[in-house]
Amino acid sequence: MQASDIKTAAVLGAGTMGHGIAQVLAMAGIKTRLFDVAPAAVDAGLAKIQANLDKGVARGKVEEKARALALEALSGASELSVAVQGAEVVIEAAPERMDLKQSIFSDLSEFCAPDALLATNTSSLSITEIGQVCSKPERVVGMHFFNPVHIMKLVEVVRTDASSDEAVTCAMELARRMGKEPIDVADTPGFASSRLGIAIGMEAIRMVESGVASAEDIDKAMTLGYGFPMGPLRLTDLVGLDVRLSIAEYLASTLGDRFTPPALLRDMVAAGKLGQKSGEGFYTWEK
Ligand SMILES: NC(=O)c1ccc[n+]([C@@H]2O[C@H](COP(=O)([O-])OP(=O)(O)OC[C@H]3O[C@@H](n4cnc5c(N)ncnc54)[C@H](O)[C@@H]3O)[C@@H](O)[C@H]2O)c1
Repeated sequence: MQASDIKTAAVLGAGTMGHGIAQVLAMAGIKTRLFDVAPAAVDAGLAKIQANLDKGVARGKVEEKARALALEALSGASELSVAVQGAEVVIEAAPERMDLKQSIFSDLSEFCAPDALLATNTSSLSITEIGQVCSKPERVVGMHFFNPVHIMKLVEVVRTDASSDEAVTCAMELARRMGKEPIDVADTPGFASSRLGIAIGMEAIRMVESGVASAEDIDKAMTLGYGFPMGPLRLTDLVGLDVRLSIAEYLASTLGDRFTPPALLRDMVAAGKLGQKSGEGFYTWEK
């Protein structure tokens, strides 16, 4: 299937990522059904999309007509089988748990058209393991979007050994149709983005630990010297030190010692210094 032929999509999970993915699909002119096991989450997701679009119009970034067409293309669904009926593409954005994702993909084998493209937005789980519960794992890929979805340009299209070239090409084209810039990445721990981001983040923390420079100055080295939009330590504060610690532990267990988290990171997490959400990390944050 070609991405230009896609007319109907389903997004599973209407949280932070799911509502954003549904928004960009609808803005690409694709009839999109947003499904969640919690009906209130569907309503909240649709309301957030409307608010995003309203803000876009107010700021002159979205045309009134595009807003109206996107809202017309969107609908909510409270049954999985109804949400995916006739959908040529399904993008799953449910919580990050392997058992949950496998159960969803097993249901998709039953309810979806046999040639539908099945994508997961997992940020760290093995796409191979998710896809292997499907009757046709060749149509399963990762489509890893970034938060906030309507603003961030990157989509990592993650291919497993089983993914067909046709499925990967379709996902890459679909991402472009959604106004994104896709990259083609093999199914390996951390894909491309988390693996590099964590490598830089852990090294920056080791540099604070050994007194190379202050957090502010290490961040400046990357923002002013390398043109990063944000330094690695400020980013760690925004993402959450606990979140980055668990990703680093996972990458250390799969890719090796170079990802072993520094003692300073463990100590800060143990002390409740989790970054912006706790008020303190490498910086102090106003609550
Ligand atoms: N938040 C991020 O910055 C980010 C970035 C990239 C990727 N991801 C990945 O996207 C996925 C979703 O993350 P999120 O932050 O949007 O989570 P979230 O908690 O905001 O939303 C998840 C939604 O899925 C719903 N849900 C639970 N079980 C379900 C099921 N069986 N079927 C359908 N919906 C179900 C929940 O009710 C909830 O509304 C995860 O795999 C996460 O790793 C998150």
